[in-house]
Amino acid sequence: MELKEFQKRVAYQIYPSSFKDSNNDGWGDLKGIISKLDYLKDLGIGLIWLSPIYVSPLKDMGYDIADYKKINPLFGTMDDFDQLIKKANELDIKVVMDLVINHTSTEHEWFKKAVSDPNSPYRNYYIIQKGSKTKAPNNWDSMFSGKAWKKLPNSDDEYYLHLFCDDQADLNYHNHQVVEEIKDIIKFWLDKGVYGFRCDVINCLYKSTLKNDSPFKILEKGSKYYFNQDGFFKVMKEIREDVLDKYDTFLLGETSHIDVKMGERFIKERALDTFFEFDHIYCDKHKLIPIFKKKFSSKYLMKQIAKWQNSNVWMANYLENHDQLRSISRYGSKKYFFESGSLLATLLLTLRGTPFIYQGEEIGTLNDENITLENTNDVCVHMAYQKAKKALPFSDQKIIKMINETINRDHARKPMMFDDSINGGFNDGQKPWLDANNQYKYNNVLKQQNDPHSLLNYYKKIIKFRKDNDVLVEGDIKFEYITNKINSYYRLKDGKVYLVLLNFSNKKAKYQTVLKLKRVLANYEEEMPFDNIKPYYAAIYEVLKEGE
Ligand code: GLC
Repeated sequence: MELKEFQKRVAYQIYPSSFKDSNNDGWGDLKGIISKLDYLKDLGIGLIWLSPIYVSPLKDMGYDIADYKKINPLFGTMDDFDQLIKKANELDIKVVMDLVINHTSTEHEWFKKAVSDPNSPYRNYYIIQKGSKTKAPNNWDSMFSGKAWKKLPNSDDEYYLHLFCDDQADLNYHNHQVVEEIKDIIKFWLDKGVYGFRCDVINCLYKSTLKNDSPFKILEKGSKYYFNQDGFFKVMKEIREDVLDKYDTFLLGETSHIDVKMGERFIKERALDTFFEFDHIYCDKHKLIPIFKKKFSSKYLMKQIAKWQNSNVWMANYLENHDQLRSISRYGSKKYFFESGSLLATLLLTLRGTPFIYQGEEIGTLNDENITLENTNDVCVHMAYQKAKKALPFSDQKIIKMINETINRDHARKPMMFDDSINGGFNDGQKPWLDANNQYKYNNVLKQQNDPHSLLNYYKKIIKFRKDNDVLVEGDIKFEYITNKINSYYRLKDGKVYLVLLNFSNKKAKYQTVLKLKRVLANYEEEMPFDNIKPYYAAIYEVLKEGE
C-alpha cells in the first residue's frame, strides 16, 4: 500500500518558547524557527510539529488556549506564521500544529462569557454542574493531582470540570455546537497550509457520564468514564467526514490509557491516523505513582516497544518530548555519551512508524543538574510537590529530588543549545523565560557540526540511511532478542533484510547468529566481534543471501 507523506518523513518537535529567540526578548519565536529551518532541512527533517503557538496565558505553556485562531504575540504575528509555512514549503518540510481541544484556557472568551452570564449559550460549552457549598459534583480526580472540579468564580455551589490544571476548563462534547467550533478551527489552519495536527490528550475528550467513580479507586477517579469512550469515536468520525476527508492531512493522537486493541480501533475507525503510546516510558518510573523511580530496564523498554511494533498500526515513535526527561539521562549513560546517544538514535530511526525527534535530542542534551523547585516553571511539578508533601513521609529535599528525577518537564524545556555564546545562542543575552542549561558551554550544535564523529552527525547519517532504504520505512519488523543487554530485530521488504543489533547496556555482551552479515552502519568504527560486543554498540547489518 502506498504510504502517506507523514509516514515517509522524519519528524522533529519544536517547543517554540525555547527554540530560537530572534528578537532577544527571552522567548523563542516564529522568526527564530524560520531562521533554523535550513538547519532542520540539513539534518534530514521532513515534518515539524509545533507545540502550541496560540494566544494563551501560558499557565500550562500554551496547552491552555485562549484564542485558537490567533498567534501568541510573544511568538510573533500571523504574518510570521504565513512566512514560516512559505519557507517550510520551499524546503519541502510539512508543518503540524498542536490541537488542544479537550479543554480551553479559563481566559478563553467562551469561558469568560459562560461565567459572566448564566444564560449565555457558552455556558453549555463547558462541563458546569451544581454541587454544594462544600462538595464537588462528583469524586473525580484531576490528572495533574488534586480534584477535577473548581467552583465558578462568583458561585457558591456551581463547579466546572478540569481534568488538568484549574486554568484548563474541559469542553462539553455533548454540545454539538462545540464540535462545530472545533471543525471550524481545524479548517481555518488547514486552509492556511498546515499539514496535520498532533491532538493533545485526545482520547479523553468525551465524558460519557458524570457519575461518581468507586470511592475505593485510589488514583485517577473518573478515568473509566472519559478515556476511549464511544462518544469520542463519534466526534472524531464527524470531524473526519466533514473536514479532514476534504484535505490531504492526518491526525496524530497523544493517547495514554490504551492497549493494542484500542490502538487498532483508533486506526480502523479512522479516529486517528497514528498516535503516541505511553507504555515504554514506564521503564524507569512507576506507572501509578510516577515520582517513584525504578531501576531502568532496557528489556522492559524494548518489550513495550515491540508490543506496539508487532501490532497492525502505524506508530508515531518517540523517546523524548516536552513532557519527558532527556533520554540519555534516562536510558543511556553520561560516561558513554556518544555510544548511548547513538544507540538511542539507531533505535528510533530503525523502528517501523514515523520517528519523532525532540529539539536538542539530536545533540544529546542531558537533564539539567541545576534544576531546583524555585527555578521550575512547570505547573504540574508544583501541583505534584504540594500533593506529595501531604501524602508522603519524606523530607522536603527528598521529595524535590524525586520529582526532579522523574517528572520535572522543565529538563526538556530549557533553551535549545546552538553554540557556546551566552544562553547557548538561543538569543543575544536577555534572560530566557526559563534559565539556560549550562551544558551549552561544552555541548552545542555548532561544536557538533564541526566534529565529524559527533552525535549530531550520526543522526544526520542514520536519517539519510533511513531515507535511502525503503526497507526501514516500509518494511515489516520481526524481533529476535529482547534482553537487558542484546536487543535485535529484522526489517524486511521484498527479499531484502536488515538486522538491527543493539547492546543496550554499559557492559560487554555476546551475540550469536548463523547468518551471513555485512555491516552497513554502526556507532563504533572498529569491527565488533560478536563474542565481545562493547557497551552501547548499535549497528545495522544487511543479511546476505547464499552466494552473496
Ligand atoms: C498533554 C501535553 C502536556 C499538557 C497536557 C494538558 O499531555 O503534552 O504538555 O500539560 O496535555 O494539556
